[in-house]
Amino acid sequence: MSVIELLHRRRSVRGFLPKPVPRELIMKILEAASRSPSGTNMQPWRVYVLTGEAKDRLVRETLARREQEPHREKPPKPFGEYDYNPEPLFEPYLSRRRTVGFALYQLLGVAHGDRAASWIIAGRNFEFFGAPVGLIFTIDKSLQQGSWLDYGIFLQSVMLAANDVGLDTCAQAAWRHYHDVIRRICKLPDNEIVVCGMSLGYADDDAPANKLTTERAPVESFATFVDAVDRVASPAEESHASV
Ligand SMILES: Cc1cc2nc3c(=O)[nH]c(=O)nc-3n(C[C@H](O)[C@H](O)[C@H](O)COP(=O)(O)O)c2cc1C
Repeated sequence: MSVIELLHRRRSVRGFLPKPVPRELIMKILEAASRSPSGTNMQPWRVYVLTGEAKDRLVRETLARREQEPHREKPPKPFGEYDYNPEPLFEPYLSRRRTVGFALYQLLGVAHGDRAASWIIAGRNFEFFGAPVGLIFTIDKSLQQGSWLDYGIFLQSVMLAANDVGLDTCAQAAWRHYHDVIRRICKLPDNEIVVCGMSLGYADDDAPANKLTTERAPVESFATFVDAVDRVASPAEESHASV
């Protein structure tokens, strides 16, 4: 399958089969993803691969922690160790976020405004949607925006490589809300912060959430082809011209 085909085929999967993923396959994905480019080859990524009892413990303790939070209310701020979005979010991003949220909740039969049901559905994030493998991505907290740029490339590489070997994924920034639980269970060093999590496994094609299709804005709406510009003389050229 070509890269272009993979780019079109990849999607976020939110329902997995309990079928285990061989460790060699996880290694193959991470090895391929490690070929991602990064500025001055700094490779800022760190990955914790959770399976079996470790994954179950993270899920159990996160869900227990979540139960202590006030239900049906917005989770308390700050969400994580970094801000994902500005508050309040603005157009066109706000509408795009709402569109995908409504579409997903509609597939899952959650009525608009039903906070109790939304709470339960959002909680599936913290079960890795039933995936046998949970990935936690961290970065050195002293690294800056350039390294976060590199990180996004790496995440997409993991997702495409997974797709290439018949697996599916869902990147999950939601995990950053529970960085303290992750820190304890994964024994994260103090200099690392949680970027996001990712579910990895075999898609359950019967899961209603996996019927979701997402839209993209057309190329014309975000790309500008600049093939003729008015030539603006530099200050040096201007001073030459006046001699
Ligand atoms: C960095 C990142 C974080 C994300 N976090 C979550 C998340 O916490 N929970 C979730 O269900 N989906 C999450 N998603 C999936 C997005 O909602 C999804 O990529 C988007 O709606 C486009 O859909 P597609 O991936 O199926 O093409 C995340 C995606 C990215 C790239």
